[in-house]
Amino acid sequence: AETERLKMVEAHELSAKWYHYLLMNTTHGAEALRYLRERGVSDKLIDQFMIGYAPPQWDTLARFLTARQFDPSLLERAGLLSAKNDGSGYVDRFRSRIMFPIRDRDGKATAFAGRVIGEGQPKYLNSPETKLFAKSRTLYNLHQARPSIRKTKQVVLFEGYMDVIKAWYAGIHNGVATMGTALTDEHCQVLARQANEVIVCYDGDDAGQSAALKSIAMLEKAGLKVMVSMLPKGKDPDEYIGEYGPEAFVREAIGQPVSATKFKLIYSRKNHILLTEEGRKNYLLEAVRIVAELDSSIEREVYLQELSREFDIDLQTLKQDSFQMREELQ
Ligand code: CTP
Ligand code: MN
Ligand code: MN
Ligand code: MN
Ligand code: MN
Repeated sequence: AETERLKMVEAHELSAKWYHYLLMNTTHGAEALRYLRERGVSDKLIDQFMIGYAPPQWDTLARFLTARQFDPSLLERAGLLSAKNDGSGYVDRFRSRIMFPIRDRDGKATAFAGRVIGEGQPKYLNSPETKLFAKSRTLYNLHQARPSIRKTKQVVLFEGYMDVIKAWYAGIHNGVATMGTALTDEHCQVLARQANEVIVCYDGDDAGQSAALKSIAMLEKAGLKVMVSMLPKGKDPDEYIGEYGPEAFVREAIGQPVSATKFKLIYSRKNHILLTEEGRKNYLLEAVRIVAELDSSIEREVYLQELSREFDIDLQTLKQDSFQMREELQ
């Protein structure tokens, strides 16, 4: 079983190099390479993340690996090949896609994400769950980010592969991302072992913001301090860097995160119509509930003062409500 694992890793390592070679050194990869460059991915970044290209033919990888004595059924169990419906053999799982190797914490390639060039469905095709690869535990780029995470005790959590890659270019070397699935408790534990603080930097669209809200709760439960980088309407980090440049991203987005509480307040605010009395009242109740969850009485007081000033409500009243809500939380 252990030898099967080693064979699977070896197959992934070889595949990653093969895909990278096809992208950089053959005419097959020309269109993919142009697409990457147009998106601002330099050759240096392509090397750093060993980005590659899987050509459209159905058996490019199958032939490459079987010529090197790999057993096709092992390659199928590893998620690199798919069995044909009629049982007559195997085809490459990834075709006509830009290939991002996914590595374990030791840096060994154990899976791939394949992106279509331009538009198309699915946008990303990921390896299936295998002996080597569990989405619920894997964080993209953790192996390269680890030294920086351990040094700063801080990690930046992104939604997408491209966000991690472009942030790296901007000098953010402690960035990781989940595999397109929601953050899990296992992810949080992995992060809590390396860092004290997480900056959540998800996409600025509704999906990203509501995912951030869920992630905050889980990260806090794992004992991490959470800050949130908020991007302007609808932008993701990759788009932000494309539009405003890497310096602005580091300075404005990563450099000025808001506290988790502030983020929750801003989020809640967007769901209430503050122009109506009813909306104001409901927002205030929710806001006080958010503040009541804070363990530090100083922090609670600071936020309650802000609310008191803004809504012209007596601070003592807010404190009383907050106190009651805390009692209920116990
Ligand atoms: N994702 C996925 N499968 C899809 C779409 C998304 O696995 N069909 C995952 C990928 O990990 C992706 C992340 O969800 O990076 C975030 O999705 P999205 O914001 O839609 O993609 P981007 O990362 O912005 O991709 P790109 O910039 O390449 O368009
Ligand atoms: Mn190279
Ligand atoms: Mn998104
Ligand atoms: Mn995105
Ligand atoms: Mn994007």
